[in-house]
Amino acid sequence: MDLFDVYPLYDVTPVSAEGIEVKDDHGTTYLDFYGGHAVISIGHSHPHYVQRLKEQLDQIGFYSNSIKNPLQNELAQKLGALSGCHDYNLFLCNSGAEANENALKLASFHTGKSKVIAFSNSFHGRTSAAVATTDLPAINAPINKQQQVTFLPLNDFEAFEKSIQTDEYCAVILEAIQGVGGLDEPATEFYQFIAEHCKQYKVVLIADEVQSGFGRSGAFFAFQHHTSTALSVQPDIISIAKGMGNGFPVGGVLIHESIKASYGLLGTTFGGNHLACAATLAVLEVLEKENLIPHAAQLGDYFKEQAKGIPQVKNIKGRGLMLGLEFDFEVGQLRKNLIYNQHIFTGGSKNKNLLRILPALNISKEHIDTLLTSIQTELA
Ligand SMILES: Cc1ncc(COP(=O)(O)O)c(C=O)c1O
Repeated sequence: MDLFDVYPLYDVTPVSAEGIEVKDDHGTTYLDFYGGHAVISIGHSHPHYVQRLKEQLDQIGFYSNSIKNPLQNELAQKLGALSGCHDYNLFLCNSGAEANENALKLASFHTGKSKVIAFSNSFHGRTSAAVATTDLPAINAPINKQQQVTFLPLNDFEAFEKSIQTDEYCAVILEAIQGVGGLDEPATEFYQFIAEHCKQYKVVLIADEVQSGFGRSGAFFAFQHHTSTALSVQPDIISIAKGMGNGFPVGGVLIHESIKASYGLLGTTFGGNHLACAATLAVLEVLEKENLIPHAAQLGDYFKEQAKGIPQVKNIKGRGLMLGLEFDFEVGQLRKNLIYNQHIFTGGSKNKNLLRILPALNISKEHIDTLLTSIQTELA
C-alpha cells in the first residue's frame, strides 16, 4: 500500500529533535522556526514533557470518558488559572478542527439557529462546519458547501452590523490573529464591536485560539490583547489545540458557564485521555515555570525591531512569536533556500508573499539573529 498523496514534501527526514533544533537522517541540524504548523510550543523533547509523558505511560495511557479521570480536572483548574478564563468549563477533544466543530455545534444547539459569520482569509479546519467557515473554496467539498456561512471582510463595521442584525446567526467565529490566512488581525475596536453585538443579538462568539493560544502571541490568548479597562472581551467559546500538546494530538473548547452542559451533548472516544492530559499539563507547567509567555512577547518585540533592518521586508506582522515577514515577491523559493542552504524551517501562508515565523516560545535572541542573518544572506 502507498500513502494517499496529498502533501508536497520537502526532502528532509527528521529523526530526532531537541529545543529548537531538528536533526535529519544525514545528521544535519535544522533550526525550527515553524514548529510543524505552530505546534511546538515549549520546544522539541522538553525534558519535563518527556518525563511526564513517560511516567504517565508507565501508569495508564488511555481510558475513554466513561470513568473518572482526575487529570482532566487538574488540567481544567490549571488552564483556568494560567489563562485567567475562570468562568468557563472545559471539553477535551483531539484537534483544532474538532474543537471548532464542537464550538459551532454547541452554538447551534444553544441558539437553535444554523447560520455562521466568518471572515475573509479565515482558517478553522478541514471538517464539516469548520471547513465551511474556512475561506478556502478549494478545500470545501459539495457536502461542506451545504452549510450556511457569510464571509465578511475584517474590520468592516457596517457589513458586520448589517449581517448580525438579521437575527439569523448562531455564531461568529474569528481568529484574533489569522494564521494560515497571513497574520491579519481585527482592530481592537472591531473585536470589541463584535463582542458587544454578539451579546446584544445573543449570537455565540467563538474565539478560534487554535494557533494563537497557549502563549504564542505573548498573551495566554490573543483575544486578550483586545481587552481594555473600558471594555473586556469575553468570548462565549474559546477553541484550542496545536501548542496545547507540544506535538501530542489534543484539542479542546473552553465553554462559558452561561452555556449549559447536558449528558450526551458532546462526546469523543479519545478526547481527554490520560496521555493527552499529561502532555497538556506538562506544557502548562513549563509555560508557567519558565515564564514563557512574557518571554514570547519580549522576543516578538526584539524580532520586529531587528527585522526592520532588512530592506526587502515590506511589512512585519503578528505578535509575540506568531510573526510574518511580508515581501513584494513570492517567498516559496526563499523558504526552499532557507531549508536547503541555511538549514532553517519557516512557514508559508495563503498570502504567497508572507514568510511565517512560528518557533517554540523558549528561543533566544541569538536564534532570531541567526534567522535574520540567514534571510539576508539568501536575499543578497
Ligand atoms: C486558527 C486555526 N484553527 C483551526 C485549525 C485546524 O486545526 P487542526 O489542523 O488541528 O485540525 C488550524 C490549523 O492550522 C488553525 O490555524
